[in-house]
Amino acid sequence: MNSPRYLITGGTSGSGKSLLAAFGNSARGIGRGDRFDITDAGIRSRIAELSLEFEVFVNHACSNKPFSQVELLEEVFSKWKKVNHQGYIVSTGSYSTYSLKPHIRLYTAAKLALDTYSRQCSKWCENHPGTFRVSIIRPGILDSERSRAKPSWPGYGVDMQDYAKLIQFLTTQPTQLLVPDLVLSSRDVAP
Ligand SMILES: NC(=O)c1ccc[n+]([C@@H]2O[C@H](COP(=O)([O-])OP(=O)(O)OC[C@H]3O[C@@H](n4cnc5c(N)ncnc54)[C@H](OP(=O)(O)O)[C@@H]3O)[C@@H](O)[C@H]2O)c1
Repeated sequence: MNSPRYLITGGTSGSGKSLLAAFGNSARGIGRGDRFDITDAGIRSRIAELSLEFEVFVNHACSNKPFSQVELLEEVFSKWKKVNHQGYIVSTGSYSTYSLKPHIRLYTAAKLALDTYSRQCSKWCENHPGTFRVSIIRPGILDSERSRAKPSWPGYGVDMQDYAKLIQFLTTQPTQLLVPDLVLSSRDVAP
């Protein structure tokens, strides 16, 4: 995929904005500030329509209604399938799906649903050669302002430049290669 254009939900603030910066001029970030609220069904449909102008769609934003990220993936996947759009859909899941976390149960349940849904989409791609591809990346702690402000911040997290490079790596692999999911973590730099 030569010089793809990226559309990033949640690209207007926080970690998504850092992702946007890493992709440079070829990327557009959308968020609530410009009326792309993913909890609204009509808006999700608009985002799916808009995504056809881009080769890479990054389903990064998670809202206070976390299942809306799954519903957005459903909308975009269905649209791309319908018009046979060429490109790559990447969702940001979470490492938290690996363990039970009763204090964030809706979030964790939604991320698990996103994980399953995204891998179903990738399975569909396996049976439809020549179409777009779908991956989910499940990071541990991301290095964002919000993460840094938490008491649980360990002092390191996945750098958003590295996250962008990983997406670029995925999208530049041979089109027959499918990567349904990836788990990402980070560690402190050597002293
Ligand atoms: N932080 C971590 O350590 C971590 C770990 C694993 C996975 N993740 C995942 O990474 C992604 C980003 O999370 P984050 O923690 O880095 O948070 P963040 O930096 O605060 O980003 C949240 C983003 O979501 C957007 N957003 C929130 N509600 C929205 C809505 N209703 N409609 C559209 N956009 C909305 C916000 O943009 P606007 O305010 O401009 O609308 C913001 O850009 C999420 O999918 C999260 O689950 C994060």
